Amino acid sequence: MKLGILTGGGDCPGLNAAIRAVVRAGEKKYGMEFTGVRDGWRGMIDADGFEITHDTVSGILVKGGTILGSSRTNPLKMDDGIEKVIEGFNKLGLDALIAIGGDDTLGVAAGMAKAGLKVIGIPKTIDNDLLGTERTVGFSTAISTVVGAIDRLHSTAESHHRVMILEVMGRHAGWIATLGGIAGGADVILIPEKPFNLDEVCKLIKKRHERKSFTIVVVAEGAVPEGGSITTKDGRKDAFGHETLGGVANWLKKEIGERTGFQTRSSILGHIQRGGSPTPEDRLLATRFGVMAAKLASMNQFGIMVALHNDRIVTIPLDDAVKDRVVGDEWYEIAEVFFG
Ligand code: F6P
Repeated sequence: MKLGILTGGGDCPGLNAAIRAVVRAGEKKYGMEFTGVRDGWRGMIDADGFEITHDTVSGILVKGGTILGSSRTNPLKMDDGIEKVIEGFNKLGLDALIAIGGDDTLGVAAGMAKAGLKVIGIPKTIDNDLLGTERTVGFSTAISTVVGAIDRLHSTAESHHRVMILEVMGRHAGWIATLGGIAGGADVILIPEKPFNLDEVCKLIKKRHERKSFTIVVVAEGAVPEGGSITTKDGRKDAFGHETLGGVANWLKKEIGERTGFQTRSSILGHIQRGGSPTPEDRLLATRFGVMAAKLASMNQFGIMVALHNDRIVTIPLDDAVKDRVVGDEWYEIAEVFFG
């Protein structure tokens, strides 16, 4: 059996660990062969692949990024995109495909599965926002980076008696801001799921400064003020219709500074959250997902995604995976305990 492997969408630490696991398990346990598809769905359309063996994946466990490359190419938005992917699949001589991605990449996988392609999904995204799995590959490393940044901001905030605002990724879901913020000891956390009231935020900061001289605010890039709109960079959209976000921290810096009179500074963590060596937790999750994906392929089970449920690896239909999983009240209520 010959399996193609692709990685699509925004990269994250742990992709290489997942690729390695699929290949090592597939070769050793099931005698499979592998083709690495370059740059996500772009490589499927262009039949752009290369042979991957045990040697190719040797030493990549600890490396961030993806040895396969990634893109945000969306065949479902192209004329004959589905046919082109199937053509590419046949040209590459594949029997099945492992797609490692977030909601966009796996959304395409779900569409391709409906068109008859044998595909298995592995969930990854630093955003941790895929329904059907409690964790995605990349999230653990991202929040560990966020916590490191908050720790650093704490010391300089304290020295200069400032309000420090840290903007993190999270377009529709505030998992990075909420869990990173809780673990880093943030004083205010603003997320897309909970439109915020700027007056209330400023009131809370002023009250805090009656006993403390600094404040750490963590804000997700997709957070919005009540009645306001999301902060976008330049209005450009990718092939999945997403605008580039970023800059809400700069807006907050001005508003909070003017309204409270405290010195305020903003930092945007950006793609630093997507880089670096994966944490042990991400390596383990990617490895478990990869080994399971190879097993499922050997059992001819397709149209599904591997997922984490109650610390067990299970499978769910690809269709159920591609909806957003947002931060629920149980998490935000924990975060709020530490506000102010
Ligand atoms: O989808 C993951 C993500 O990191 C989002 O949190 C963020 O909005 C987006 O990717 C940024 O993508 P790009 O690589 O196109 O800048």
